[in-house]
Amino acid sequence: NVLVKDLYTKKRDFSDEPITISGWIRTIRDSKKIAFIEVNDGSYIKNIQVIAKKNALANFDDVVKLPISSTVKITGKLVETPDAQQPFELHAEEVKIEGVADPDYPLQKKKHSLEYLRTIAHLRPRTNTFYSVFKIRSLAAFAIHEYLQKYGFVYVNTPIITSSDTEGAGEMFRISTLDPDNTPQTDDGKVDYSQDFFGQETNLTVSGQLPVEAFALAFRNVYTFGPTFRAEDSHTKRHAAEFWMIEPEMAFADLKDVLDRSEGLLKYVINYLLENASADLQFLNDNVDHNLLELLHHTVDEDFARITYTEAIDILEKADVDFKFPVKWGIDLNSEHEQYLAEKAFGKPVFVTDYPRNIKAFYMRDNPDEKTVAAVDLLVPRIGELIGGSQREEREDVLEAKMKEFGLPKEEYEWYLELRKYGGTKHSGFGIGFERLLMYVTGMDNIRDVIPYPRIQGSIKF
Ligand code: 4AD
Ligand code: MG
Repeated sequence: NVLVKDLYTKKRDFSDEPITISGWIRTIRDSKKIAFIEVNDGSYIKNIQVIAKKNALANFDDVVKLPISSTVKITGKLVETPDAQQPFELHAEEVKIEGVADPDYPLQKKKHSLEYLRTIAHLRPRTNTFYSVFKIRSLAAFAIHEYLQKYGFVYVNTPIITSSDTEGAGEMFRISTLDPDNTPQTDDGKVDYSQDFFGQETNLTVSGQLPVEAFALAFRNVYTFGPTFRAEDSHTKRHAAEFWMIEPEMAFADLKDVLDRSEGLLKYVINYLLENASADLQFLNDNVDHNLLELLHHTVDEDFARITYTEAIDILEKADVDFKFPVKWGIDLNSEHEQYLAEKAFGKPVFVTDYPRNIKAFYMRDNPDEKTVAAVDLLVPRIGELIGGSQREEREDVLEAKMKEFGLPKEEYEWYLELRKYGGTKHSGFGIGFERLLMYVTGMDNIRDVIPYPRIQGSIKF
């Protein structure tokens, strides 16, 4: 068997020998004596055109009646057609029918809306758009691992089931083996988790950061790459309840190292995709977002902008825009503000650093001004926030005081304080939302369309 990808990418010599391909019928046009069959074999976004002639095929009449999505195994001669739309075609000598599809197959030739395709998540990878998106998802994951491994980062698998709330935002999914209709109660009327599976309250992780920090203080450079869960009440196109995050963590590194490393990583991934997913990116550029390739080239060619939160507020206050949420030093930037900065003010990715300490997580390092922390968000055009990171508070006494100030139970974070107690080290890290990155590199506008089986508040089907 031959893969169609190898034919398009010339990994294989065109010889006179007959070849065999297996795939699914995408379209058939036929007249009485000849049929043109487009077959996709899964190895490449492009189909192979098969020419079937009545006088050359014993089962011609059965073949031309096949419904779309039927499975076939075709043997024939490959003929180069330099003047035609496709560079070659397969002249069938034998067509084995391996599976006849039901004629009411939902993906007929017409273009379907993305909304409709979400209702058939099990079939949508068969469309060109989702084929490209999920191919890119796989290649991007590989490129991320490749870049980080190349720079000596050790991959650490942090737990999915946890007892802490890393981000302190209270957006966790609880997990429990208790019978919801008959929960045991303590004397003061609370749920008695001592009878739960782990003997305590547990939840799905919102971030692997705290556990991976411990590994950074042993291996120097480490990263997580896994699923995270947030029960956020955000009905936007950029929030999912289950999403993947890449969290690199570096010992002996400060905030500037976070900016440099994350910019290097993003550019590497985009360059990798431009090289290894060019047919898919071209398809998405032609059919989904006409500015996609330009944006990606621009992203790798230009330095990202770097400003402080205070400068960002200044830019927003001077902007000739009526923001829904008024701008004032101390506010958490809203998505309209983030979009303005990335799209209008800079027209490229922009790092915003040194946010007010009160709107950020407890573990971020206090700046000498005592008003801000060594935090960074990367804002990118079309998406808004793509990365969140910071230098971590490595001073045991400062961290302990801050945990108290932020109302964190000391017993639960004893181990986290011990990382400082036993040789505190300057260290920093960041988290990339994998799906946000995929939206950026595919041009897709909704996070539901870059996740194979999205988990979004309000519904779950697959
Ligand atoms: O900014 P966040 O909350 O940062 C952290 O979790 C840190 N512990 C990261 C670190 O320093 N190691 O989340 C990081 C990124 C966001 O910038 C965003 O891209 C993505 O994760 N993200 C989501 N993506 C999809 N759906 C959601 N509900 C998301 N919440 C965050
Ligand atoms: Mg964030």
